Amino acid sequence: TEESQPYRTGFHFQPPKNWINDPNGPMYFNGVYHLFYQYNPYGPLWGNISWGHSISYDLVNWFLLEPALSPKEPYDINGCLSGSATILPGPRPIILYTGQDVNNSQVQNLAFPKNLSDPLLKEWIKWSGNPLLTPVDDIKAGQFRDPSTAWMGPDGKWRIVIGSEIDGHGTALLYRSTNGTKWIRSKKPLHFSSKTGMWECPDFYPVTNGDKKGLDTSVQGNNTLHVLKVSFNSREYYVIGTYDPIKDKFSVVTNDFMVSNTQFQYDYGRYYASKSFYDSVNQRRVIWGWVNEGDSESDAVKKGWSGLQSFPRSIWLSNNRKQLVQWPVDEILKLRTKQVNITNRELAAGELLKIPSITASQADVEVSFSLTNLTEIELIDSEVVDPQLLCAQKNVSISGKFGPFGMLILASKNLTEQTAVFFRVFKGPNKFLVLMCSDQSRSSIAQEVDKSIYGAFLDLDPLHEKIPLRSLIDHSIVESFGGEGIACITSRVYPKLAINEQAELYVFNNGTQSVTMSTLNAWSMKRAQIVPIG
Ligand code: FRU
Repeated sequence: TEESQPYRTGFHFQPPKNWINDPNGPMYFNGVYHLFYQYNPYGPLWGNISWGHSISYDLVNWFLLEPALSPKEPYDINGCLSGSATILPGPRPIILYTGQDVNNSQVQNLAFPKNLSDPLLKEWIKWSGNPLLTPVDDIKAGQFRDPSTAWMGPDGKWRIVIGSEIDGHGTALLYRSTNGTKWIRSKKPLHFSSKTGMWECPDFYPVTNGDKKGLDTSVQGNNTLHVLKVSFNSREYYVIGTYDPIKDKFSVVTNDFMVSNTQFQYDYGRYYASKSFYDSVNQRRVIWGWVNEGDSESDAVKKGWSGLQSFPRSIWLSNNRKQLVQWPVDEILKLRTKQVNITNRELAAGELLKIPSITASQADVEVSFSLTNLTEIELIDSEVVDPQLLCAQKNVSISGKFGPFGMLILASKNLTEQTAVFFRVFKGPNKFLVLMCSDQSRSSIAQEVDKSIYGAFLDLDPLHEKIPLRSLIDHSIVESFGGEGIACITSRVYPKLAINEQAELYVFNNGTQSVTMSTLNAWSMKRAQIVPIG
């Protein structure tokens, strides 16, 4: 019940109980969306790792099926780890996944649907020739996992990347195949970095700007760039570059991989091991990410579950081709119900405004701010600063000039508990800096939960552009999108007071300068249906 389980979500994907981690092999096939995920069928902690399987017709409501892959064979008995789906000509989907074998070595395996005419693809068969690949030569047995979706080059060969660490360097190993069963390692990896360790869950795909359209994974074209995303250091780092499919040469044009908050991340909060897929019916690329817990293992045991999937997002290249943009898929709109609208409301210095009438614990809120006369502004002497550190130094209680202003989310009546998502605008030597923060430091009166403060910069001009913020609020998760998706910050929170009907929502301005709230639209959200099938 809601009373005994205040942290269960209303519209984020989670099974009724047990552990989940990475999204695996998402795909759209024959009118059906498939989501697989790392799943422990027997408990709320990591173990017995299987591929949970759910299907949907709208990415919002889900039917839960039996696990598609379970750890039963010598080549995966210690876990069916992460992997990806590829739709081969036919069309015929396959899964490539990592098995943790009897010796705890990581090997790559192949599986395919038992019956292609079953519209839900309920049963999957592991290939008799497994394992496809074992860790040989310079590859360490515990550092060889998470095969990507395959893409086809102009020579008709399929390619995949696999996460690894070679000679201490994070590496996306490249393999080629003509038939999908025999894979040959390329002498050169697709990419590596001497500045990071092991890479998990690599994702590699084309993007183009101009509209929000996505491209199928094998598409190459004059106007395409490629994205390489890898997971390390609990974060999702990405680079953008050009890809020559003849030489399999990937040249990065953004900052290259490093352990730093100044490098591009899909999400600057709690979000990991994401995977994207091409949704052919809506011609978009959709991305899923794992949002883990910030409470303890004993809390997981008490709750009986652990882990969420983010709300699925569309992902595309910004018009200036410099970065990626993400936005919750439009299907979320069908969950919106009761609405509150406020327009052109001045927020004076120190003002706090309660947003009434919606279910503040399960809501979708879009707000945008505009600033005028940016003369009285906080100065900052460097434009290369760590935004997360800056948010921690200048948290919500520290008054500035333009900012902090934003929302207090999942707030209790007397504001003892609050998750503050806000902005602060600075003037650096050459430009304005718009800082976005998600501050969990006062999110709960409970002691033993994570209360990180996250931050990111928004590449927008506060003199000529509004500063928009959207937050998906769902009991224990807050997914925030700044600047219409140019920076995302996800957090998990565990309020004790601000739960269910007790939660409140506010907008505030704690700067000395007034700001205009151009628009605010907030909606109560209905529950998504996530139910076992027959
Ligand atoms: C990422 C990860 C993957 C691995 C899986 C195991 O969270 O560590 O590298 O395949 O989880 O569950």
